[in-house]
Amino acid sequence: MILTVGNTKGGVGKTTLAVNIAIARALAGRDVWLIDGDRQGTAQMAISIRAEAGHAPGIACATYPDGPALRSQVQQQAHKFDDIIIDAGGRAALILSDVLLVPFQPRSYDVWDLGDIAALIDEARSVRDGLRAYAMLNCADPGEASIDNAEAAAAVANVPQFEYLVSPIRRRKSFANAAGQGLSVLEIKPADKKANEEFLSLIGAFF
Ligand SMILES: Nc1ncnc2c1ncn2[C@@H]1O[C@H](COP(=O)(O)OP(=O)(O)O)[C@@H](O)[C@H]1O
Ligand SMILES: [Mg+2]
Repeated sequence: MILTVGNTKGGVGKTTLAVNIAIARALAGRDVWLIDGDRQGTAQMAISIRAEAGHAPGIACATYPDGPALRSQVQQQAHKFDDIIIDAGGRAALILSDVLLVPFQPRSYDVWDLGDIAALIDEARSVRDGLRAYAMLNCADPGEASIDNAEAAAAVANVPQFEYLVSPIRRRKSFANAAGQGLSVLEIKPADKKANEEFLSLIGAFF
């Protein structure tokens, strides 16, 4: 499966989710390729930290900030992997993807951005049938996710290109702690049970 974690907006958790999803799939025994489509290379950095710390399984990772290069590389190499997880590859990645996961934060200005992405989805679907697009809440405030969820679900309902995934991830330090160690939230010690549950529930929705 080719999955892109995308949003035209920064700071919504694309890299965090892409790295966690890639590691989770590798832990499940899949051959995974993580692609960093952002010139800042944050996903690549997390995987380098992981490699230097010697955490297994290792994750194959490449950075292609240039859309056409990303597209041609994925087209050439896709057969070698079970799952390809793309962090923010933009338009080029969407055309190749089976699933688009759009994290957004529980504030209305993030929700407005969904309109821009909806246009990209229309464009990708005109080239390639069957792109599934999901929106989900990331960094929901603890305790307030039910209100946020209701508001987000209502906002996403106005954007027919998306399906709203009722699998919010709340703001949890363990995501940042894990990233700093090159780990996924499933691997850190001591385990953050709630973060594990939320994250597994999220990936269970599309894998
Ligand atoms: N669920 C979460 N809980 C706490 N911090 C988070 C969560 N998701 C992301 N973050 C933090 O928010 C910041 C931005 O996330 P990042 O994944 O880099 O966003 P993007 O790739 O969309 O710019 C990072 O410091 C990251 O550690
Ligand atoms: Mg990023």
